Amino acid sequence: MTTTADQSLWLSALEAPRPPLTGKHTFDVAVVGGGITGLTTALLLKRRGLTVVVLEADRVASGVSGNNTAKVTALQSTVYSQIRRAHGISAATDYATASQAAVQQVADLVELEGISCDLRRAPAVTYAYTESEVPAVDHELITARQAGLPVRATTDVDLPFEVHAAVRLDDQLALHPVKYLRGLADAVDGDGSLVCEHSRVLDVSGTRLSTADGQVDANQIVIATHYPTLDRGLYFARMELTRAYCIAARVSSPPQSLAISTGSPSWSIAAHEDKLIVAGAGHPTGRPAVEPFRRLEDFARRHWQVEEVTHRWSAQDPTTYDHLPMIGSYTPGSTTIFTATGYMKWGLTSGTFAGSLLADLVTGKPNDLAERFSPHRFTLKSLPDLVKKNAEVAAQLVGDRIVPADATSSENLPPDHAHVIRDGLGKTGVYRDPEGHLHAVSMRCTHLGCLVRFNAAERSWDCPCHGSRFDVDGEVLEGPATKPLPRREPR
Ligand SMILES: Cc1cc2nc3c(=O)[nH]c(=O)nc-3n(C[C@H](O)[C@H](O)[C@H](O)COP(=O)(O)OP(=O)(O)OC[C@H]3O[C@@H](n4cnc5c(N)ncnc54)[C@H](O)[C@@H]3O)c2cc1C
Ligand code: FES
Repeated sequence: MTTTADQSLWLSALEAPRPPLTGKHTFDVAVVGGGITGLTTALLLKRRGLTVVVLEADRVASGVSGNNTAKVTALQSTVYSQIRRAHGISAATDYATASQAAVQQVADLVELEGISCDLRRAPAVTYAYTESEVPAVDHELITARQAGLPVRATTDVDLPFEVHAAVRLDDQLALHPVKYLRGLADAVDGDGSLVCEHSRVLDVSGTRLSTADGQVDANQIVIATHYPTLDRGLYFARMELTRAYCIAARVSSPPQSLAISTGSPSWSIAAHEDKLIVAGAGHPTGRPAVEPFRRLEDFARRHWQVEEVTHRWSAQDPTTYDHLPMIGSYTPGSTTIFTATGYMKWGLTSGTFAGSLLADLVTGKPNDLAERFSPHRFTLKSLPDLVKKNAEVAAQLVGDRIVPADATSSENLPPDHAHVIRDGLGKTGVYRDPEGHLHAVSMRCTHLGCLVRFNAAERSWDCPCHGSRFDVDGEVLEGPATKPLPRREPR
């Protein structure tokens, strides 16, 4: 019996790192972030004759793009019902058109660039796991059809339990996301363009970007950092981060369908080779996770003959207040800095169409979808949600300051546990690792000052306000925060 790896099924496909940026360079476009958004945009720009540099803080594909369930599909749970509610059927139609084109674009890029990424065609399915989910599935069927997708109703799905209702869309894609992104990066690199790893952008001043050891001057910049990291644009006030968990398990006959149930909890199912992938147990980042991996494993064992759970991982993705991605100028009217975010856990598809739209915007080519996905649209219908969300964050900011701390010393803190102590400097989060060493950090999030909370499933300090995450020594795992939590003396 092997041990379960605490990393995604995909990350072991990372190869030797690319060199970081050193010295001063000039490119037509600088892309910050080597996920699906950044690499797709970079490749499409390079194909239009521009020189591009991709600056990736860590490894290409090490962000959410390498930590997902790897479905590339235009059928996405009940997304069309949500978009229709917020914007009407024309927006749902635009989203469907863009998503179908993105699925085809991934298939085309794989073929054109000769990328070996285990691509296979598969049906996507939105299903009712319980009777109570049937109305949501029925509604999605009608809406997706009106939006122009060739969907059909079925209950015949290759899942080993009763499916009460389902919507099916054929000819969608499953792939190995790290291999796909590696292929995109290979295609970007060369002929005057460059992909750099371990090159975190620390400062953007005008159109000059600085990393620890290098500098780039570009005519235009694309911020593709998942959560926009530049301290402008107030993106954090318009998005909510949800964290979700995944396991991979070896089973004798994994399903072919890319399936997701509509209820809460939602069970997302995919497969790669002999492994079943189950994802779910989502919650807003910074809120407690209740044994997420155990719940996923119980679900898998309830329905499949599981030989072994091989991998477990987690990731988060932002949802915008009005349920459409934000793709376009970073600040209103800017023609030099662009961004894309807010994919609601479907960014392999929407990050791809974001790449096409960004390539058009950067090169000044008209695109019918530019207004629809503009980050600066304003949706009156969704305003109450936005107000409510920001009121919740404000309550966190005020409330956090009055919640009593829970200990005065870490003497009796057991291994692999964390707690909060109050000292002269405010609240300190202390974690004792399995070897008995204490790790202590300030709990004040370096983004806007909410108090972080311990995430026991991942041994991280997570912020409930806008989703920043820090390791037990305070290093930033995910933004919008860019600075570490100050370390404290353990007590
Ligand atoms: C559990 C889960 C399952 C999912 N499953 C699916 C699925 O099946 N299908 C689907 O379509 N979508 C899925 N998604 C969503 C999808 O994976 C994401 O929406 C998408 O990968 C986001 O891509 P990205 O390029 O915007 O971000 P990322 O892939 O996170 O890339 C951003 C990159 O920017 C880098 N970066 C950040 N700051 C800096 C900086 N200052 N300088 C340089 N680089 C920086 C990061 O290191 C990172 O590599 C899932 C999401 C979750 C949470
Ligand atoms: S992420 Fe905004 S305050 Fe923490």
